[in-house]
Amino acid sequence: MTTFDKPAPGGNLLPTLSGRYYCETAIFEAERDRIFERMWFCAVRSADLPAPGAFRKVQVGRESVLVVRGRDGTLNAFLNVCRHRGAMLCTEESGVVKRHLRCPYHAWTYGLDGKLFAAPNLGTLTDETGNRIDRTEYGLLPVALREWLGYAWVCLDAEPPSFETEVIGTVTERLGNAEAIEHYGVAELSVGRRIVYDVAANWKLIVENFMECYHCASIHPELTEVLPEFAGGLAAQYFVGHGALFGDDVEGFTVDGSAGLDTIPGVTAEQDRRYYAITVRPNVFINLVPDHVIFHRMYPVAPDRTIVECDWLYLPDVVEQGRDVERSVELFHRVNEQDFDACERTQPTMSSRAYRKGGVLVPSEHHIGEFHQWIENRLNDRTGAGVPS
Ligand code: FES
Ligand SMILES: [Fe+2]
Repeated sequence: MTTFDKPAPGGNLLPTLSGRYYCETAIFEAERDRIFERMWFCAVRSADLPAPGAFRKVQVGRESVLVVRGRDGTLNAFLNVCRHRGAMLCTEESGVVKRHLRCPYHAWTYGLDGKLFAAPNLGTLTDETGNRIDRTEYGLLPVALREWLGYAWVCLDAEPPSFETEVIGTVTERLGNAEAIEHYGVAELSVGRRIVYDVAANWKLIVENFMECYHCASIHPELTEVLPEFAGGLAAQYFVGHGALFGDDVEGFTVDGSAGLDTIPGVTAEQDRRYYAITVRPNVFINLVPDHVIFHRMYPVAPDRTIVECDWLYLPDVVEQGRDVERSVELFHRVNEQDFDACERTQPTMSSRAYRKGGVLVPSEHHIGEFHQWIENRLNDRTGAGVPS
């Protein structure tokens, strides 16, 4: 059993970021540069690209990135830019090509490994020094890619940070040990449902909302029925290793507390009947319950707009047999809608003079202060450019 001490409900207020962080283009551009283009960004569910030639286009910071399943079955990522005169190679969101990626403009054609395969008169062309052109050098520019938990994570930085520290380490730190996530076998689960939400809010409002549960009693009636301790306002993420316990009369993590689906076999007695939530910066939320995993990916597209793709992952048998996951999906779908409504209510007023100096964090939200500090540190990092004024 995980034990924890509840902090006293009283205490001091801490300041938040000021309103401009949520609505100014200059801040958003700096975040693209110093957060989304430098960190490991969770791009696609690997199983969405099942066979060679399957691709998906993903916006990462200011760059369009193509994730492609190669002929050898591995996933590769490339900048989605033709090396000839820079046309966007793929404009479709996703698709399948037979053997090659062909630029529609002048027909430069690339292999699934990114190498330049063909171009009109390619055999007669030479590079600037008069040598026959190197097909790798004129190939698509590669982007670092790692697969973990059944997702492909990409990093645009020329020297990516340690995946072990930044991604796996974050999950380990939150759950208290490295094995805890392994028990859920997330990579082997199947997508039972995917819902894409187009949220009219800054990505940081969505992160902050996910991190706290001060709002749970007021906007999540179904969730607090299933997880009674959430009514107290402390998020599961407040304590290392803590998972919120299901209510005594609750059978499963469903909208009405009725029984869920088959329990994931690796889930331990300690993890059973508990909900764990993890934030992996900058764009992932992972929610663990005994019979499924809810995996959110955020795609920030503008200061005031974020696409959230949410996967409900179950044991493959549950999905293949067409078992009814409706009540199971409905619980967190409602939570998502309730949360995103709250974020959308907050977004338009971020530019108000009332919020010019920001707001306050109550004690059960104090850990959001660390997120704010992290944002400021990232924006001040590397370039020395600082927070745009
Ligand atoms: S820009 Fe792609 S072939 Fe010319
Ligand atoms: Fe919430």
